[in-house]
Amino acid sequence: MEYEEIQERLKIITNTPIKLIPDDDMAKIRKDMAKKCPITKEMDKQFRTHIAGGTEHQLAIKDPFVLTIKRSSGTRMWDMDDNEYIDWLMSSGACMLGHNFLPLKDEIIKVYHDLDPNIYYNNEWEIKSVEMIKKYVPSIELMQYFQSGTEADMAALRIARAFTKKEKIIKCAGSYHGWCGQLCVDMHVPFSGAMEAHGIPSGVYKNTLVVPLNDVKALEDSLKKWTEKRSGVAAVLVDPLGGDAGGLATKKDWLRSVRELCDKYNVLLIFDEVITGFRLGMGGAQEYFKIKPDLTLFGKLLTHGFPSSGAVGGRKDVMNNLTISVEPGGNKAFVGGTLRGNPLTAASTYWTLKLMEEHKAHEKAKNAAEDLVKKLNLLFENDGRPYFAHNIESIVHFETFSPLALDLSDINNVEIIMKRAEGVDRIATALLSQGIITKYGNRGFTCMQHTNEENDKFIDAFENVLQMIPK
Ligand SMILES: Cc1ncc(COP(=O)(O)O)c(C=O)c1O
Repeated sequence: MEYEEIQERLKIITNTPIKLIPDDDMAKIRKDMAKKCPITKEMDKQFRTHIAGGTEHQLAIKDPFVLTIKRSSGTRMWDMDDNEYIDWLMSSGACMLGHNFLPLKDEIIKVYHDLDPNIYYNNEWEIKSVEMIKKYVPSIELMQYFQSGTEADMAALRIARAFTKKEKIIKCAGSYHGWCGQLCVDMHVPFSGAMEAHGIPSGVYKNTLVVPLNDVKALEDSLKKWTEKRSGVAAVLVDPLGGDAGGLATKKDWLRSVRELCDKYNVLLIFDEVITGFRLGMGGAQEYFKIKPDLTLFGKLLTHGFPSSGAVGGRKDVMNNLTISVEPGGNKAFVGGTLRGNPLTAASTYWTLKLMEEHKAHEKAKNAAEDLVKKLNLLFENDGRPYFAHNIESIVHFETFSPLALDLSDINNVEIIMKRAEGVDRIATALLSQGIITKYGNRGFTCMQHTNEENDKFIDAFENVLQMIPK
């Protein structure tokens, strides 16, 4: 669905008064969950006594309690009470072949027989895996592994600054790039400033500039202003889908304009492909949008979730600016990490890409996403709701109360945004209670094993949810 249509439909949603799933229905859902999940509920209590906050996972649905998962296979996961769930969170996008995919596990176990992660020195899987990445992502001339998307973001910024000898980084409002201090500003929610930045000294993000998404003039104004100053701009860092896996949508030619402006002002363009890498196709967002960045960073699907999953790659002249480089010259950015590029990480990258290629994983996951979107839109239409669904390849969005479509910079919107967010949370819980795991009630990822029959189950569950939401 194009940007303009998405905005128009979001406007209809935000102009429609909302009613949430009523408290009585939620109370019944929570009671039913407690009844069918006694062990899982008890585990949740134990988690609260051992793990700070009761969970390590931002996107785990927390109402009425966080599930503890005992087993996973294909599209399914089972809780401690053996209740089955169909998973549309897919490890927040890291899973494309399906859970516990045996051909991948078998290959990694073969590597593990000869090599443990503790060899520290080079291993042949680093070469094999980067050769495989280069085949699909030609902008990668050199690469370095890191241990998470967050770490890869940090490294990319440091390498860019070392190369350009400039300090400022420009990012877009609402985009999430992990949790390193300098990027914890205006993340998740556009114009939220330092809302989520407790514990970060204010000086840490003084070199992070934020521009509104899709606003080419604002980006050019910022580039013009700061490239004239001594500190200068090292790079523009973008999530090619805008933010929230495309929930904050981009205009058609926005990325092209960003590329042109980076060239005009002699600033590096960094693509954060932690979500899009290998998911929008083997060549990721840069193949999908046909735009070549200077640096790219990966995470999640890079290793199919096998730890640790992060990497930065790109132009040779830029990537050579590392203290560990055996090549002479460069501006020497320090990067460290004991387990980077270990044999299991590198082999899981190689085998993930090889198996995705062999199984035509994208095509299958995309077909499943398109079927789900078609069925959801039919359901919403038949029920007379303004809600709508759309997909970008295997990323599915279903908009119901759409809190992010309202402008948080308007103080009058805060209360209604909170209410709309609560509405979406309730949908997430109501779906979970019927065995459907989503990315917090309004997003999902498909893998190559999702079937049309499973989509029908999703639709049945959503139909029950609609029956609870008053018109
Ligand atoms: C676009 C983007 N960048 C960076 C990250 C951080 O990756 P990690 O969770 O591996 O640190 C995420 C995580 O969701 C992400 O979506």
